[in-house]
Amino acid sequence: MARTLLDIDQSKCRKDGICSAVCPRGLISLQEFPETCEEGYELCLACGHCVAACPHGALSNRKLPQGQSLPLRQDLQPSTDSVVQFLRSRRSIRTFKEKAVPRDTTEKILDCARWAPSASNSQPVSWIVVEKPELMKRLEELAAQWLKDEMPGYARFFTHVPNQGEIILRGAPNLIVALTAAQYPWGDTDCAIALSYVELAAKANGLGTCWAGLLTRAAQANRTISESLGVPEGFKVHGALMLGYPLYSYARIPTRNEATIKWE
Ligand SMILES: Cc1cc2nc3c(=O)[nH]c(=O)nc-3n(C[C@H](O)[C@H](O)[C@H](O)COP(=O)(O)O)c2cc1C
Repeated sequence: MARTLLDIDQSKCRKDGICSAVCPRGLISLQEFPETCEEGYELCLACGHCVAACPHGALSNRKLPQGQSLPLRQDLQPSTDSVVQFLRSRRSIRTFKEKAVPRDTTEKILDCARWAPSASNSQPVSWIVVEKPELMKRLEELAAQWLKDEMPGYARFFTHVPNQGEIILRGAPNLIVALTAAQYPWGDTDCAIALSYVELAAKANGLGTCWAGLLTRAAQANRTISESLGVPEGFKVHGALMLGYPLYSYARIPTRNEATIKWE
């Protein structure tokens, strides 16, 4: 027998069909009251849209019960201008204060990334946070050596970096690494989105980040580096961010290329 997915409070349901319209897999039909197809429980992504979109609080989803969804605070909605300014003013930070990032702050930031979209709501991203100074130094050295050996063409980009010993991790106190199971097909995309959430959440918490692209490539190519990071067997590093308190604040927003758009 099919497992029940939705519990409908018939006294609240207005049969407006919103739950049915927002379900990504079209699992909910409107009979007397909303109900799911035979395979509804198995096929449900547990995205929670049916519960979250119902204005009447009329349904609960057994995979993601109503009590687990958060109320949406209208009083916290930022203005359009403040969102635009916030997005435009995120910068890659490459100079950091000598100040440790408290674990609970990093946890708060990574917690925000739980709401990043992921393919089929797979939520496949896991994290490694490097905070030991000696490991940061070792990773810097290993990756710099890899860069020298494998990417000699890059060398000229770094001849002017003031501290040549820190071209990979820039003296950041922490490194946040995003991984998924190696065979998961959307790993690059889901990690990039989650890392973007991390960048913005870090900024909102007074921290700065910079994508550690060179370290990521080195960790993907070199087993010693991924082992030093503690990447489990069968997992792949898709991206990493340096994290720390910015040494400088920026006074202006540099401009960027106009959007290239083709309207069809
Ligand atoms: C995938 C990716 C890899 C990157 N890798 C590095 C890196 O290894 N080192 C670095 O200093 N910056 C790195 N960056 C930062 C870019 O240089 C930066 O985003 C760009 O110059 C624009 O500056 P902004 O982020 O302040 O707008 C990377 C950015 C991305 C998206």
